[in-house]
Amino acid sequence: MTAQPVYHQGWKLEDVRWDAFDPAAVDPTLLAAIKAAALVEYNAPDYVTYLKRVFRDAGSRTLGDIERWGAEESQHGRALGRWAETADPQFSLEDAFARFRKGYSPAHFNDLDAEGSVRGSRRAEMVARCVVESGTSSYYSAIRDATDEPVLKEIAGRIAADEYRHYKLFYDTLHRQDEPEMSFWRKLWVAVTRVRESDDDELAYAYYCANVPADQEAARPYDRATYSRLAARTGMTIYRRQHIQRLVQMVAKVVGANPHGLLANWGGALLWRVMQRKAASAA
Ligand SMILES: [Fe+2]
Ligand SMILES: [Fe+2]
Repeated sequence: MTAQPVYHQGWKLEDVRWDAFDPAAVDPTLLAAIKAAALVEYNAPDYVTYLKRVFRDAGSRTLGDIERWGAEESQHGRALGRWAETADPQFSLEDAFARFRKGYSPAHFNDLDAEGSVRGSRRAEMVARCVVESGTSSYYSAIRDATDEPVLKEIAGRIAADEYRHYKLFYDTLHRQDEPEMSFWRKLWVAVTRVRESDDDELAYAYYCANVPADQEAARPYDRATYSRLAARTGMTIYRRQHIQRLVQMVAKVVGANPHGLLANWGGALLWRVMQRKAASAA
């Protein structure tokens, strides 16, 4: 196994070695998934607004952390979008994003009167965020390890490192809240609820807007089940066992279970079996 390069926080688009791009090494299934991921990442400003509302009285350090986090997520969208535009000149991040924005907005972003977290507390919000960052950290690690295209490998490596730092940031923020500690079961409930939401419209609709050109919308209308399955398909095939174990360990840690204990090992084995079965049925 070769050592992975170490990517530090605060990288810029100009730091990526774009001239190493190899068109022959682009995998079409992965390209479709990257286009969808770019839209979801690029949508970060809405989450920034929402999180700043949830943490409005948490002090300038936390609010500054949220701003920086959002800027990094948006940059992930721009980096993935630029790679996808290079691989497929028909694709435009801005055009696909405009369609995505028009058709998708979760209720908790629209309700301007709502003050607290949709999860019930700031701690619960951070548990949910940690679950998302565990997922993205494993996903981009899997892409980095699955692709032979040098630029995508570099971008995925840089993003995976950012996502892991985001997990640590939200993990620390979780434990800084002057709210009562949550029970193990409550944290597990929030984590499982957030994982289940991964099946929701966001990624499926992003996949649709990113991969069905605007002039084909009428002929190929959006169908949630179909595009949800297509969006999930890549994930099922690129993950390796170690990415899944890492994902489960990160989630175990945030709910307060031993990342190397029985529950995490059992959870990792179970999730791996489920994903292999889904990969086989999606193939
Ligand atoms: Fe990201
Ligand atoms: Fe992140």
